[in-house]
Amino acid sequence: MSEHVKVSRDGAVNVVRMHRLEKKNALTRAMYAAMAEAIRSADADDAVRVHLLLGSEGVFSAGNDLGDFMTIAMGGEHGGEVFEFMDVMIRARKPVVSGVDGIAVGIGTTIHFNCDLTIATARSSFSTPFLDLGLTPEFASSGMAPTVMGHQRAFALLALGDSLNGEEARDAGLVWKIVEPENMESEAMSTAKRLAQKPPEALAIARDLLMGDRDARLALCKKEGELFGERLKSDEARQAFQSFMSRKVSKASA
Ligand code: COA
Repeated sequence: MSEHVKVSRDGAVNVVRMHRLEKKNALTRAMYAAMAEAIRSADADDAVRVHLLLGSEGVFSAGNDLGDFMTIAMGGEHGGEVFEFMDVMIRARKPVVSGVDGIAVGIGTTIHFNCDLTIATARSSFSTPFLDLGLTPEFASSGMAPTVMGHQRAFALLALGDSLNGEEARDAGLVWKIVEPENMESEAMSTAKRLAQKPPEALAIARDLLMGDRDARLALCKKEGELFGERLKSDEARQAFQSFMSRKVSKASA
């Protein structure tokens, strides 16, 4: 488990919340493992009908922990927790609702391509600065984004690194609904509860049909992951991580 992931139940809704606000909910290996376990175990529990993923007020997630990336770049172990998390998300029988307010970077954005309904605020910001970090798209986003929003918008998001605000993300098909910040969590919960009232077998079949070929999606995650793993060890990536770390040092000494 991880102190940075809070798991709770509200009726038939399994609530998984990232809780590392001091680091903008940047995701560590332990957090991926905890989130995977929270979804896997609730998915097997008949009392649970829907999963709900949340961050904090003003911050969904700043993406993968760059310190963890740096460790891999310097020859450290990858682990594989993130792939386990992707596998559990994509294979889940029960729908996944997400609620976003504020920053959603990297996997904090690509995760929603693998959710069923995303509620966000207009002030949210979805971005994937993969190329600026010497990295490449992940979590099946290289296949999902062009399908959801068309090649040009997908390329602007995933390659150019342009960010989308909440309304742009909704218009592009990444987000279902925009609500006011003070209503975001209640709206996400009431959406999850509406789904939880559906007949569970029909709900599972509907999700299965709408998810399409999950094996193909996971195969794409694997292919992207191999390339991403190689990129993490590239000079381009090492330099980008170092410059983020030195930005931290210069901020601290300012
Ligand atoms: N990994 C590790 N730590 C991170 C992080 C990340 N992805 N994102 C933010 N943090 C940390 C910062 O280092 C800082 O820690 P410190 O207080 O110990 O110095 C803290 O979270 C707050 O971040 P800060 O940069 O001061 O907040 P901000 O509001 O000015 O900017 C972001 C927020 C998200 C725009 C900025 O932190 C950022 O660009 N983060 C990197 C995002 C990223 O590239 N993710 C990987 C995508 S693949």
